[in-house]
This record gives sequence, C-alpha cells and structure tokens, in this order.
Amino acid sequence: MTSTSQLTALVTGAGRGLGLALARSLLSSGWRVVVDARRAGHLAGALPGAVVVPGDVTDPAHRDALAAAVSGLGRLDLLVNNASDLGPSPLPPLAGVPLAAVRHVLETNVLAPLALTQMFLPRLRASHGTVMNISSDAAVEAYEGWGAYGSSKAALDQLTAVLAAEEPGLAVYSVDPGDMRTEMHQAAFPGEDISDRPAPEAVVPALLQLIATRPPSARVRAADVAGASGVAEARA
Ligand SMILES: NC(=O)c1ccc[n+]([C@@H]2O[C@H](COP(=O)([O-])OP(=O)(O)OC[C@H]3O[C@@H](n4cnc5c(N)ncnc54)[C@H](OP(=O)(O)O)[C@@H]3O)[C@@H](O)[C@H]2O)c1
Repeated sequence: MTSTSQLTALVTGAGRGLGLALARSLLSSGWRVVVDARRAGHLAGALPGAVVVPGDVTDPAHRDALAAAVSGLGRLDLLVNNASDLGPSPLPPLAGVPLAAVRHVLETNVLAPLALTQMFLPRLRASHGTVMNISSDAAVEAYEGWGAYGSSKAALDQLTAVLAAEEPGLAVYSVDPGDMRTEMHQAAFPGEDISDRPAPEAVVPALLQLIATRPPSARVRAADVAGASGVAEARA
C-alpha cells in the first residue's frame, strides 16, 4: 500500500555493495525506497518492494526518471548519494591519469550528487529531511594514485559542508564508511586478497543511527558513530 506519510528514501548506486545493503535495511525498517544502478536487472529480486529505476546518475534524463519515481511516492525524507566512480584501475598517478577519466569521476562523484540535491531540495525541505553523501578517507589523505577519486570526494565533502550551512533545516552529512569488501575496493586493490575487509553490511548500523538520531550536520566517520554496533574500523 502506498502512503504519503511513509518515510521515503532515494539511494543511488544500490546495485551492490553499501548501497544495496543500506537499501535492504531501510526497506526492512519500513521505508519506501527508490534505487538506481546502471546494471539493475537483478534488483527487483534483490530488493523486493523497492522502486527500481535503472540508469546512470550522470545522465540528466535518468535523473528526471528518478524525480518522476519520487513524485509518484509524494515525498522524500532521505537522499543518499552513494553511486561513485573510482576511475581507472590500477589507480594511476596524477602525472598520467587521463583527463577524460578524471572528468567522469567528477561527473559521477560531484556533479551528479549536486544535481540530485538541487532536484530534491524542495521535497527535502518540506520533510526536514536528510542528505547523506558517501565520502572516503581518500578525501583527506594523500594516497598515491588516488588523486582523481580523492579530490572528487574532497569536493563532495565541501559541497556537503556548504549545503549544511545554507540549509539549516536539513540534516546534511558526508560519511566516510571506511574500507569495505566490495567491487570498488577490489578495483582499487587489483589482485589483492581483500577478504579481511569488513562487509558493507557492517557499516549500515552507523548510517541508520545518523538517520534516526539526526545529530548536527557534519562530516562523519562511520567508525566514530556512537551506538552503532558492528561498525568497521576505518583503515588508514
Ligand atoms: N568500498 C570501500 O572500501 C569504500 C571506501 C570508502 C568509500 N567508499 C564509498 O562508498 C560508496 C559505495 O561504494 P561500494 O564500495 O559499495 O561500491 P560498489 O560495490 O562498486 O557499488 C557501487 C554501486 O554504484 C553503482 N554505480 C556506479 N556508478 C554509477 C552511476 N554512474 N550511476 C548509477 N549507479 C552507479 C554500481 O552499479 P552499476 O555499476 O551497475 O551502475 C553499484 O551498484 C561509494 O560512494 C564509495 O566511493 C567505498
């Protein structure tokens, strides 16, 4: 049954990894959830009850389709900008990184989250909602090879901080989830055994805790969120 009083979230990049784990938890907590991914054929089965909108967050027509899906539900309480591009793998030094690849990283990790934020601000203001942008420790640490991705996450952090200042009625977070055993992490460490990294499900309690308790807008390390059991320690 559809109800305009039911909490409603949009989670981008929910085809696998952290986005899928978070969307699954929100659904089981009674949220209505709109999700996307470019490869979304499996999502009706993986996320029963979700509204699945296949597509690429960098595509304006796809973002319009997301807006239409949210309009159909009548409200938006939570926007999670999770979809992300790592750039080329293996991670190249800045001296040789192709500019087209950097442009795509910035389109995906900075411009698309901003475009979606602009698109949904009226609904988020109406619901006193939450914007959660998924960042990385690479935004603040100078890891060799991580220049394109890291600078995109640094830009996302700054957009988040300015949005928080401009929209005091919203809860606005950028969240560093810490290392997770996902396809993106494997691409960052090709050929390495990443089985010691925590599953993305381990980070979800921290995200749910932020959403439920609405501490002041901030940049947050998931590992520092009090009361979220099972949260993975971020590796340096
Ligand atoms: N894994 C880590 O260790 C780690 C550490 C720090 C921060 N993070 C951040 O955590 C977030 C989740 O990462 P993850 O490790 O869960 O990644 P992941 O396993 O690679 O999953 C990323 C998801 O985003 C989707 N996606 C990618 N580009 C998209 C686009 N342009 N449009 C729509 N969907 C797109 C992917 O599906 P399709 O490819 O089918 O579109 C996939 O469902 C990201 O913001 C990442 O930067 C991850």
